[in-house]
Amino acid sequence: MNPTMTAAHRGQTDKVEQSLGATTDGQSEQSLLFALPKGRLAQDSLSFLERAGLSIPTDTESRKLILPAADGSVGFVMAKPRDVPTYVEHGAADIGICGLDVVRETERAIYEPLLLPFGHCRLSVAGPAEDAGVPPSACLDVADLVDRPTKSAHLPGRPLRYMSQPRIATEYPRLTRQFFAERGVNAEIITLGGSVELGPILGLADLIVDVVQTGTTLRMNGLVEVRTILESQAVLVVNRASYQLKAAEINRIIERMRLLTT
Ligand code: PRP
Repeated sequence: MNPTMTAAHRGQTDKVEQSLGATTDGQSEQSLLFALPKGRLAQDSLSFLERAGLSIPTDTESRKLILPAADGSVGFVMAKPRDVPTYVEHGAADIGICGLDVVRETERAIYEPLLLPFGHCRLSVAGPAEDAGVPPSACLDVADLVDRPTKSAHLPGRPLRYMSQPRIATEYPRLTRQFFAERGVNAEIITLGGSVELGPILGLADLIVDVVQTGTTLRMNGLVEVRTILESQAVLVVNRASYQLKAAEINRIIERMRLLTT
C-alpha cells in the first residue's frame, strides 16, 4: 500500500474489497471504486462504459449498492446523482460520472478530465405560461426583469413583491442565487428536493430553476422556459489523490472513454 495514501483511501480500499469479496492478503490489487448516478443518467452511463470496452456489473437491477464489474476489476457504487461529487471529493469513490449541473452546484474539489457525450440538458429559469395576474407575454416580462433589473418595467396586475423579490423554487440554490444576484435581482430561493414544477402551481414560487431535457415536464405543467443558466451534460470526475495514486488504472479508463468522445 502506498505510504502517501490517506486514511480515507485505506479504509475505503479495505471495506470495498470486503464488500466485493476480494482476498485481502495484503498483496491484492487496490480496488478502484467508480460512483455511478442512479436515475436518468444510469443506463446511459453503463452503456457508455460498455462501449468504451470497460467491464460493467452483470446484475444492474440488484438492490446492492456496491456492485463488482463482471471481470472484478472495478467496484461500482450506485449513488444519488447529487452525491457523486461528494463521494469522489472525499475519496470514498475514486472516479465517477454525474451531470455538469451537479458539479457546478456542489462546487466540490474534484478533477473533471472529460465531458461525456450523453446526458445533455440545460438548467433553465421557467415560469407560468399564463395564469391569473400574469399577462400572456409573461416569459418576455420575466426575461426583462432578469436581464435588465434596473429598468423598472411596469407589469400591470403583478404584485410588487414579484417584481422586486421573485420567489424561485429550485434544487440548485447556489447557481440560482448566483444567476439572479449577478443581475441585481434580490430573489428569494426556496430549495426543494424535486418536482420543483409544483412551486408555481401551488403558489409556493413565482418561477423555478430546473433541469430541462425534452421540455415535456414544463409543458405538462403549464410552464415556459425564460432563460438558460447552464448547458449541461455528463462529466467524468476523479478524486485528486486517486488521480495520483491509481494513475495507471484511471488513465486507462480516461483514454478508453476519450476515444468515444472525439
Ligand atoms: C428532471 C427535472 C425535470 C425533468 C425535466 O426531473 O427536475 O422535472 O427532469 O425533464 P424533461 O424536460 O425531459 O421533461 P427528474 O425526473 O430527474 O426528477 P426530479 O424532479 O425529482 O428532479
